Amino acid sequence: MKLAGANALVTGAASGIGRASARLMAARGAKVALVDIDAAGLDSLAAEIAAAGGTAITLPADISAADAFDRLAADAEAAFGQIDLLMNNVGVLATGKPEDIPPEEWGRILNLNLLSAVRATHRLLPGMVARGRGHIVNTASFAGLFPYAWDRLPYVASKAALVAVSEGLALYLIPQGIGVTCFCPGPVRTGIGKTIRSWTPGIAPKGPGDQFAMLEPEEAAQTLLDAVEADRFFVVSDDQALIEMRKRGADPEAYLRSRLP
Ligand SMILES: NC(=O)c1ccc[n+]([C@@H]2O[C@H](COP(=O)([O-])OP(=O)(O)OC[C@H]3O[C@@H](n4cnc5c(N)ncnc54)[C@H](O)[C@@H]3O)[C@@H](O)[C@H]2O)c1
Repeated sequence: MKLAGANALVTGAASGIGRASARLMAARGAKVALVDIDAAGLDSLAAEIAAAGGTAITLPADISAADAFDRLAADAEAAFGQIDLLMNNVGVLATGKPEDIPPEEWGRILNLNLLSAVRATHRLLPGMVARGRGHIVNTASFAGLFPYAWDRLPYVASKAALVAVSEGLALYLIPQGIGVTCFCPGPVRTGIGKTIRSWTPGIAPKGPGDQFAMLEPEEAAQTLLDAVEADRFFVVSDDQALIEMRKRGADPEAYLRSRLP
């Protein structure tokens, strides 16, 4: 998927990885539909993109709503004609002991992190299949690749599911000429920490480990979009993650025990 001349829709575009990705898509010649619940953040990004000579429209919305993508997709298609590149990127985090996180909170996280991607894909995929052209990016996480923390189980479940769904979509879509990229970032300096909901007072969030460097969103976006333009499926922000995956694959029992606190 070459970005020059493509039309993209990015969710979670007002902040962090989504913002940096949308900005870089526009810099590489894509028109970008910016979706986020933070309307002011979208406005400031659209102004940045326009000042740099790019094209963006803002589509403020809460994508936890079941019907959000009916209007969002229609508005994006009305502006650009068709959407070639969908980046399902919104993700939120809740932490707490497993016995403290209520099932309703599982529902909130899975709805936003996983089912919003399902809904966006369900709405935009038929056009891509009909055209035999398109690309879907799902932002997962190291949290979906190997175990490192017990304090964020709904998040882990949503990210592991996104990895599995991306793999299945790739099997189905690549033979039809449609690309899929499963993007798994490790630590990236974004706003996600400010929105963490904690269900157990006093526990500090646990990262994947000191072996992983904290990246800037622009670095993550560049890694991602180079991979999208090269039509790569599996993309990690830090190759150290592959070492963890190899260790886990070689001996899952020993690997789990090595990660016990
Ligand atoms: N930052 C990291 O270290 C890291 C690591 C691995 C994976 N990720 C993943 O990267 C993705 C982007 O996260 P980020 O770190 O850039 O976070 P961020 O908080 O900076 O950006 C997330 C954006 O999503 C928007 N959003 C939240 N709820 C929404 C809703 N209901 N409707 C519409 N928009 C909504 C927020 O307003 C925000 O602009 C997420 O899926 C996250 O899980 C992040």
